[in-house]
Formats: sequence, C-alpha cells, structure tokens
Amino acid sequence: MEKQPIIITQDLSKDIREAINRTSPDRLFVLVDENTARLCWPRLRDALSQGSEHHDKVPTPALITIAPSDEAKNTETLAAVWTALSQGGATRHSLLINLGGGMVTDLGGFAAATFKRGISFINIPTTLLAMVDASVGGKTGINFCGLKNEIGVFRDADVVLLDTEILSTLDRANILSGYAEMLKHGLISYSNELNALLQFDIEKPDLKALQEMVVRSVEVKQRIVLQDPHEQGLRKALNLGHTAGHAFESMALAQGRPVLHGYAVAWGLVCELYLAATRCGFPSQVLHQVRHFVQDHYGRFPLDCRNYDRLYELMTHDKKNTAGHINFTLLANVGEILINQSASKEDIFEMLDFYRES
Ligand code: GLY
Repeated sequence: MEKQPIIITQDLSKDIREAINRTSPDRLFVLVDENTARLCWPRLRDALSQGSEHHDKVPTPALITIAPSDEAKNTETLAAVWTALSQGGATRHSLLINLGGGMVTDLGGFAAATFKRGISFINIPTTLLAMVDASVGGKTGINFCGLKNEIGVFRDADVVLLDTEILSTLDRANILSGYAEMLKHGLISYSNELNALLQFDIEKPDLKALQEMVVRSVEVKQRIVLQDPHEQGLRKALNLGHTAGHAFESMALAQGRPVLHGYAVAWGLVCELYLAATRCGFPSQVLHQVRHFVQDHYGRFPLDCRNYDRLYELMTHDKKNTAGHINFTLLANVGEILINQSASKEDIFEMLDFYRES
C-alpha cells in the first residue's frame, strides 16, 4: 500500500491547485455541510480563484451542500450526493473535494468511492478531530439501522490537505474533542510525545506548537494504517479508549445529552488504561497523569451503578468483538500495544467502579 499524500498547507491557493491537478479532473465538485458552507467554503473559494493567472486552471467548482450532524450521515444524504454528482454531469474523471468534519469526509469519501465505481476525492478536514483521525486512513461510510459507520468501504483520499490555519477558528470544545485522539496517538506511540501532550496548555493553545503536534499525531496514525490498512490487527490500536468511549457516547445520546466524540474517547481512555494497569502492567503513574488531565479539561461522565448493565450491553456491539467476547485494545506501557484483550463482565464493572470513584 502506498503512503497517502498528506499536505500540510502554508499556501492553500497553490496547494489545492496542485492537489486538483494531480488528477486533471474534467469537473470539480465541493461537498460541504451547512456550517462549512458558511464558515470554510469562502476561504477555499477564494483560494481557488486567487492566483489563477500563475497556476494551471482548475474547473469551476460546483457546490453540494448537505445537512450537518451525524443524524444526516445516512442513505438519504448519500443518495442526494450521488444525485448532485449525476445531475452535475460528473464522470469517472471528475473530482470531489470533501470540506468538513468527519461526517463530511466519511460520507463524501463513500459517495466518491462508489459513484461510477469510484472517482477521485480530496479531503480538507475542518475540525481537529477530522484532521488527526477521520480524514486520514481511508475509512469511509455512513450510519445504518441505528449503527454507526455500519456501511462503508476502505478507500484512501487521493490527497488529504491539512489547513492548520483553521485551528485558530475552532472553539474550546472542538479543540478538546480532537485533542483526545491526539492523546490516544501519544499513548500508542512514544512517552516523550505523550508527555508533551499532557504538559501542553490546551486551554490557551500556542497555535504554532499545536500545529506541530497535529503533524506528529497524523504521522502516528499514518504509520499504523500503512502497516494494517484494513484493520486486521495493528490498526485496532487506534481503537484504544473507544470500546468504553463509544458506550458513553451512545448512552449520552440516548439520554438526550449528546457529547462530542472526543470527550467520550477521553473518558474511555481513563477506563481502559485502568484495565491496562490492572491486567497488563501499564504504569499506574501514567494512568493517574492521564486521569488528572482528562478530569481537569473534559470533566466527568456522570455515572451511576444503575447504568452499568446498559453500558456493558452497548459494549457488546463493538466492531472489535469476537463471538461472545468484548475485546479491548490495551497497553503494557506507552507504545506497547496489546490488541484483542477480552474482558469479563466483572472486569468491566470493576473498570466502571474505578471511573466512578476516582
Ligand atoms: N478511527 C480509527 C481508524 O481510523 O482506524
């Protein structure tokens, strides 16, 4: 598998033109949601029109706008994108740019991967979460029958273009949400990276330093995806914190108080590092450093013992499970990854006790 081209842009106008011209498309489409249409499209539109006298011409883009939020990540929205491509005269040589968060890059990637059996696409992630996770690594898809990302394919974007200037426009909650995936990347890679993340002032982020950490974080993901693109083994490392995290996320949604994905991952990391410490010898000092960081910045998931059975039930739906076992990705130490670690109901309840009492 080839390394996916990831461009950290300092000059959006030049880099987007070069990315587009890698495929010399006959038609150009830009997928946005209603928020990125308002907040991010003007910057891209200006970049596409600026400097055209100095660079190769690119086709005039046609905008496709979809509703924001995970609820719209469904077959109806997908069909609307296919329809817009079809009615806009897209051919197999056309190009789709996905400009948005993970919902747009996942759904747009899937639309592109399936339209006429596959057209080229570029991801320009507009959230920190999408920059360090969703836009990289080729997972595309939609939700189906109440299950997240149930239908999809692995298909790399032709180019991922990271416009880290966008970071300066994000609010605290969205910075923190993406930062949880960066913490996960620190935990599965190197102690010095994890320490830098834990010591960083995320409440008043130095944007230049954050941009550099984003680049290193994406490299961690890319290195893992290159070794195991279809998640047969090592890629499961990227699910650290997500078995418990997805259960928290689903429960919060069902209780009518949805939380951002990264917050649920941060709480899930604390839970799963406890399992790692008790079962695999993960250093308890690092567990407590992470727990303090998460409590200080992400607060706590309100938890009661009466929720345990429901959380356990939610964990039984995790994609990593094998017949009858809930499987976790755990760590023996920072960067020492242990996949397919099954845990009993008692282990999971003990983990939830730790989370609730700590
Ligand atoms: N978000 C986890 C992965 O891409 O595998």
